[in-house]
Amino acid sequence: MTSPAQIVVFGATGDLMHRKLAPALARLAGDPALREPFSVIGVARSERSDEAFRASLRDALAPSARDAFDALAPRVHYQRADASQPGSMRALRDRLDALADGAQIGRLFYLSLAPRLFGATVAALSAEGLLDMREGERTAWRRVLVEKPFGHDLASAQTLNRDLHEMLSEEQIYRIDHYLGKETVQNLLGFRFHNAIFEPLWNRHHVELVQITVAESIGVEAGRGAYYDGAGAVRDMVQNHMLQLLALVAMEPPATLHPEAVRGEKVQLLRALHVPDPHDVAVDSVRARYAPGTVDGTAVKGYLDEDGVAADSTTETYAALRFEVGNWRWTGVPFLLRHGKRMPKRFTEIQVQFRTPPVQLFNRPDGVSDAELRRMLRDGSLCDLRPNVLTLAIQPHEAIRLSFGVKRPGSAMVMAPATLAFDYRDHFGAESPEAYERLLLDALRGDQTLFLRADEIEAAWHVIDGVLAGWRADGAPPVLEYPAGSWGPPDADRLFRGCEGSWSRG
Ligand code: BG6
Repeated sequence: MTSPAQIVVFGATGDLMHRKLAPALARLAGDPALREPFSVIGVARSERSDEAFRASLRDALAPSARDAFDALAPRVHYQRADASQPGSMRALRDRLDALADGAQIGRLFYLSLAPRLFGATVAALSAEGLLDMREGERTAWRRVLVEKPFGHDLASAQTLNRDLHEMLSEEQIYRIDHYLGKETVQNLLGFRFHNAIFEPLWNRHHVELVQITVAESIGVEAGRGAYYDGAGAVRDMVQNHMLQLLALVAMEPPATLHPEAVRGEKVQLLRALHVPDPHDVAVDSVRARYAPGTVDGTAVKGYLDEDGVAADSTTETYAALRFEVGNWRWTGVPFLLRHGKRMPKRFTEIQVQFRTPPVQLFNRPDGVSDAELRRMLRDGSLCDLRPNVLTLAIQPHEAIRLSFGVKRPGSAMVMAPATLAFDYRDHFGAESPEAYERLLLDALRGDQTLFLRADEIEAAWHVIDGVLAGWRADGAPPVLEYPAGSWGPPDADRLFRGCEGSWSRG
């Protein structure tokens, strides 16, 4: 259930507001799950009228989204404020109080800001009493939604958590990871814990390897060069989105769908990830950046030529990592993660590769004796076929596929690969709702399941700190180059050992 609310967006003149939040807010206003209306108050440092603010949001929308926005527009406002200026938050408070139902309704403060401003902005809101609420308050609640990046290492994330906890209870803090708002990511929980058939197989006895890919064809987008150069692929994508995918694939079943049950299991899993030492990092990671190349038939520049990127940058735009989960379910099963910008196409996918049958009865090479075959399999000069792979395709084509072998028709006993496939769009017709719409709705409802808890973010950083320390250490793997539009450095193939296979191409 939702109650009437004000959504106060800090950083309202920025890119995220125009590209992602405005369309999500427009759709959300018409969402039947929303019982009560909300108003939107954009906040930024520049002077702007309500009309000019509405017009700039409307202009940024796809024409098909404009009708929905027009219905919301009378409830969209703008207020100039600067957290560093005394009195600024008082003007904001007066403005919020003066709107319909004023201080009697819920307030969601959305921090779409540079991370260095998170703490100061919350402090300024707190000083003005804007975050005060009674425990368990159902109507006049106060919540703060914090955008990523949440820290740039474990220490900074801990500091930010401490700062926020001085002014807010954990129940008031909504740390966003927009991947958790994606339908297919939520379906990982549904698929695993609604269907019992896979559960007996979902462990080290039957799973040989799990690989997770987030490939992007875009490079570093205009205006993001300076941020990205200070972050890199591991901080930008692996620490948050990819470790969340890993946690959802590998976590234990929660006892209930209570937010704390689900988040608690994810934390346990993240804590079971081995923190790599520099030796592990040298062996189990590959990093690289894109050089000039061609993507979709268009020539594109290399990373070092992007605006805002330092000429002597060593920031990676590609990372491949081999992780291990040290618990009873998963010990010994490698989890291979790969993310790159400027790859040949955009796809996000999880592949669960099942073990081979104990004896390979079919498709044996001609003219090879049993003894020779056994020797070849033992020394790795021949690999067993891996017929069973479960693919969970997250985007852009949302699907689930299970591969298996079937007998090819004919007199010979030859097995051919086949696939059972489910496609979201074919099945449900409708497009899945956008991640930000779902997350905003949950924040209005007070449901924290799809938001990150303090200990969860810190557990993820703990592992990533190990990777980053390894990359700073002597003997660290070098930053390789790959042409834009390629699948990344061939060196990343070494993260698969023996007959484990190779990276998916989607
Ligand atoms: C963001 C990263 O969190 O996720 C971007 O900062 C990345 O660099 C984006 O492009 C990818 O999101 P999506 O939803 O397009 O897969």
